Amino acid sequence: MKITLIGCGAWGMAIAAHLVKKGHAVTVWAHSEAEAVRLTTERTMPQAFPGIVLPEEIIFTNDKKTAVDGADLIVFAVASPFTRTTAESMRPFIGEGKRIVTVTKGIEEGTLLTQAEILEEVLPGNVIGALSGPTHAEEVIRGMPTTIVSASKSREMAEFVQDAFVSEMLRVYTSPDILGVELGGSLKNVIALAAGMADGLGAGDNCKAALITRGIHEISGLAVKMGAHISTLEGLSGMGDLIVTCASMHSRNRRAGILIGQGMTADEAMKEVGQVVEGVYSAKAASALAKKYEAPLPIIEEVNLVLFSGEPAGTALSNLMLRDRKMEGRFSQEDLPECWRSDSSH
Ligand SMILES: NC(=O)c1ccc[n+]([C@@H]2O[C@H](COP(=O)([O-])OP(=O)(O)OC[C@H]3O[C@@H](n4cnc5c(N)ncnc54)[C@H](O)[C@@H]3O)[C@@H](O)[C@H]2O)c1
Repeated sequence: MKITLIGCGAWGMAIAAHLVKKGHAVTVWAHSEAEAVRLTTERTMPQAFPGIVLPEEIIFTNDKKTAVDGADLIVFAVASPFTRTTAESMRPFIGEGKRIVTVTKGIEEGTLLTQAEILEEVLPGNVIGALSGPTHAEEVIRGMPTTIVSASKSREMAEFVQDAFVSEMLRVYTSPDILGVELGGSLKNVIALAAGMADGLGAGDNCKAALITRGIHEISGLAVKMGAHISTLEGLSGMGDLIVTCASMHSRNRRAGILIGQGMTADEAMKEVGQVVEGVYSAKAASALAKKYEAPLPIIEEVNLVLFSGEPAGTALSNLMLRDRKMEGRFSQEDLPECWRSDSSH
């Protein structure tokens, strides 16, 4: 199979290396000519993967036509702020009737669209899927056991991508719930910022567990209101990705959060991390979605205050601890004993 990766970041490269190992012909489009040349000659990503040499078989190009010509599958792997502009510039070369899967996580500010929704809008007439899960590139490139979810409205597409990616080290599940898969993958980045801030404040493991658990609670509350299925949010692309992002030092969102918790501003933290911290973009979008769907997102709202209104991370933590008292869980009134009815269960 010829598979084209659009984007040459850490995740795109880990996927390219994995697909080459599976025997596919892999072409990677780099957004600058200089990077395509550097990758062709040096075959290294010293910052993301120190000591690792990328397979000789990967073809790098900056030419859009060469990249997508004859591709059986196109994988969009640019950072989320560049998905729309990159897809627009690729449209004349991609045309129609192609299979396109996004592996990018993020909600577009302004339109509030997911990555697959952007691709559906910009590249009509193609079949779109999303591939997402707890998959740090640093582990995938080393062949460490990993799981991921291939989602699409089209069962044929979800299974096509599953078939293209599945291996002994990468177990691929399928899902019809592409919205749920994408929301889980995007919104967990905002909770990872919060988890990092808690770590930066030295708040401890109890606090981390609370942020992960209450984080999935608020993400799933919004996602279900938007039409996603609860079991998707409880699965690998929801809870699974949230756990790995909040616990791992590979997570740039968590690393940025730690720096903010230690006193840096959001801008200083992003500069220090040196990569796109997508949770920062998704935080604003999530807040807008919360208003649109009337879904309470207390952790995400506090992250927004820290990022964009200069609220100290310690104040955000206090605000969360001291917010209105609640009963845990979401119960229908009929499931509750009489004396518990009419209570708020957020
Ligand atoms: N790194 C991971 O472990 C991992 C795992 C799963 C999903 N993801 C998701 O994959 C996406 C990419 O992550 P990454 O780690 O590869 O990011 P990265 O920061 O390493 O790379 C981002 C890539 O975006 C592209 N880009 C940058 N500037 C551009 C421009 N002006 N125009 C067009 N393209 C440009 C380039 O290909 C660049 O390499 C993100 O949405 C991330 O959430 C990452």
